[in-house]
Amino acid sequence: MKAKQSLLSLTLVACAGIALAETTVRNEPIQPIPPYVPTDAVETAKAALGEKLYFDPRLSKSGAISCNTCHNLSMGGTDNLTSSIGDHWQQGPINAPTVLNSGMNLAQFWDGRAKDLQEQAGGPIANPKEMAFTHELAVKMLDSIPQYRDEFKRVYSKDSIDIQMVTDAIAAFEKTLVTPDSRFDLWLRGDDTALNDQELKGYQLFKGSGCIACHNGVAVGGNSFQKMGVVAAYLTDNPALGLEGVTKNEADRFKFKVPTLRNVELTYPYFHDGAAKTLEDAVSIMGKLQLGRQFTPEETADIVAFLKTLTGKQPELKLPTLPPSNNETPRPEPFNTSDSAAKPRNGG
Ligand code: HEC
Ligand code: HEC
Repeated sequence: MKAKQSLLSLTLVACAGIALAETTVRNEPIQPIPPYVPTDAVETAKAALGEKLYFDPRLSKSGAISCNTCHNLSMGGTDNLTSSIGDHWQQGPINAPTVLNSGMNLAQFWDGRAKDLQEQAGGPIANPKEMAFTHELAVKMLDSIPQYRDEFKRVYSKDSIDIQMVTDAIAAFEKTLVTPDSRFDLWLRGDDTALNDQELKGYQLFKGSGCIACHNGVAVGGNSFQKMGVVAAYLTDNPALGLEGVTKNEADRFKFKVPTLRNVELTYPYFHDGAAKTLEDAVSIMGKLQLGRQFTPEETADIVAFLKTLTGKQPELKLPTLPPSNNETPRPEPFNTSDSAAKPRNGG
């Protein structure tokens, strides 16, 4: 009884602590990232399955490309390339955004053409320039492996696997990929020592000069479509039209989903065409094109110092062990080998 009581008072103290922490969040246009808390056991099981799928290159035609190839979770959820390398070393059309905190986006892709993470996840598997597979073959591959079959059955209580389950599980995993407790978030929660003078000066300039109008909220972006090149046109060879491609409305030309600036230190190069190689370049171009403002090198350095405080705690993952292929599993086709070359030569 006594133990129970002290447990109860402990819980009360803990709750009071949380309540206190919530009330002391500074009143700023950026809010701290809440840690990921699974809603229930099913969600946890989905995320664990989704994690395997995220790392499984057998969801690609070549057997070599997984989601993690282009959204590398060791590198801020990106590939750090101007544009990604897809099937047969094809050049992707646009810079790969990070998957970190992507559940907070109002829609997915630079032009918002997928409404959520589940809808998005079906895209790359069947995209001939990315994983170059088909949904049918992806399901067939998974269905040939008893461990996957059992796990899908356990999680979805259905006898056969379908692509909706695949994308649902991947989306559940992606929702766990949040990065709380950046130094900026510690400061937002009231820790005055979390930022130094330069970083604080950078944040004041970020707010004062107007960056905050587009980069705000929990993800410091991701919540609106805005024109790239408000004050002066952005020059690029990249043919992407932005939101116009989705709405067919000319007024939406060159509007892109405002990228999150969370972990921006890790997600170089920048912009939809990946043309800005450094954070200094990106900040200076933003100042000129979005605000008509030429920052001094010192001002740029201050803003960059602030932006680096947005790097949060990266997801701590244990690399999943994937169930092996068996005799029934379709084999990958990494090269354009002719039939005869692919045939066993030694009577196998
Ligand atoms: C060959 C590289 C490549 C592979 C493989 C790939 N992606 Fe992507 N991903 C991209 C690119 C490029 C974009 C941006 C495309 C666009 O906006 O038009 C993108 C966009 C996204 C987005 C949207 C993020 C945002 O902020 O809009 C998510 C989420 C995502 N990918 C998840 C995945 C998942 C899950 C997989 C595996 C099923 C995957 N990707 C496989 C390159 C890749
Ligand atoms: C009018 C809205 C708007 C304003 C104001 C604005 N931005 Fe942006 N920002 C965007 C959009 C849209 C993009 C994506 C543009 C693209 O890729 O073509 C972007 C991209 C960026 C990027 C690159 C992120 C990435 O992952 O590619 C950085 C860094 C950035 N902004 C910082 C700033 C800073 C610093 C300021 C203030 C000097 C600022 N922005 C002001 C809308 C805005």
